[in-house]
Amino acid sequence: MTPTLPASWYTDPAIAARERTAIFARNWALFGPAHEVAEPGSRSARTVNGWPMIVLRGSDGTLRAFHNVCRHRAARLLEEGTGTCGARIVCPYHGWSYGQDGRLLIAPRFGENLDADEAALLPVRVETWRGCLFVCVDPAAPDFESWLGPLPELCASYPQTESFDYHGSFTVEGRANWKTYCDNTVEGYHLPFVHERLSRAVDGASVEIRDYHEHRLVCFHVGYRGDGAGLRGADGLWFYRYPGFQAVLGATGFKAERIEPVGAGALRSESWAWYGGGLGHNERADAFAWAETIAKEDLGICETVQTNLEAGAYETGWLSPAMESHTAAFQALVREDLASAT
Ligand code: FES
Ligand SMILES: [Fe+2]
Repeated sequence: MTPTLPASWYTDPAIAARERTAIFARNWALFGPAHEVAEPGSRSARTVNGWPMIVLRGSDGTLRAFHNVCRHRAARLLEEGTGTCGARIVCPYHGWSYGQDGRLLIAPRFGENLDADEAALLPVRVETWRGCLFVCVDPAAPDFESWLGPLPELCASYPQTESFDYHGSFTVEGRANWKTYCDNTVEGYHLPFVHERLSRAVDGASVEIRDYHEHRLVCFHVGYRGDGAGLRGADGLWFYRYPGFQAVLGATGFKAERIEPVGAGALRSESWAWYGGGLGHNERADAFAWAETIAKEDLGICETVQTNLEAGAYETGWLSPAMESHTAAFQALVREDLASAT
């Protein structure tokens, strides 16, 4: 039987710092919905896994992303949020100006000549998939296509995000290590105990959980019944792509979620939802509120776990071979990635 990760891995700030460089920097992360930067001259600024970033579409239509950090003395360049981006990005601290391609254009009264390329904004990799933007801070990490692996094929039978209407986003923040939440995300063991409405809506016998891509992708192929079938269609795909991207996909909608650590003892989850497939106004509102309820149910139970991991009585537990093999595989990935980073 597989033991769980030790409790200290969920509480130790040194492990959280190593995970950030060994896991989160080396993977792609969901940034937000692509419509935020659909128009030339638009931009979106947001902090992802602790890195403040800007994604912008230049006047020439090119999509680019940068760290939201001035190269002079590190001030934040743009306020977080969406909006338009002029021809120049001007730092509010001492007025250094950058072009939409990140090149330094002006450093007022600086004196010595600066190399415009050397002092350019620090780039972040950016890609688009299914109406969402994805970013990666490590230039040496695998390309986005190989990171996605079999996901595009697995999603191919469901409608594209563009065929749905964007509905909105919600953020859930709580006092639990990100692994507490992901341990939970990849097992269906807790479903009947934690998610009362979801359990009624899912035909338990139809659920098939499979992993792909050397355990980095876990998919729940589910059939719905009752109001689940009414709101979500006959079947759907829930997936988790290590370390922080999960989604729910079906005939009537798409919900994409970024899970990110906030230090060792807290996490933030941000979700964006799109609906269509004949769902009316009230049904969309119901589906959206339900999605938030599910996230809160998960976080609520994870917070009790985190409290107890921190309290000190519990060291390790056991994972069920029948019900928690994907949690075991997730924890093995964490071990492997941290070991390879030292
Ligand atoms: S920190 Fe940006 S101009 Fe000084
Ligand atoms: Fe759950």
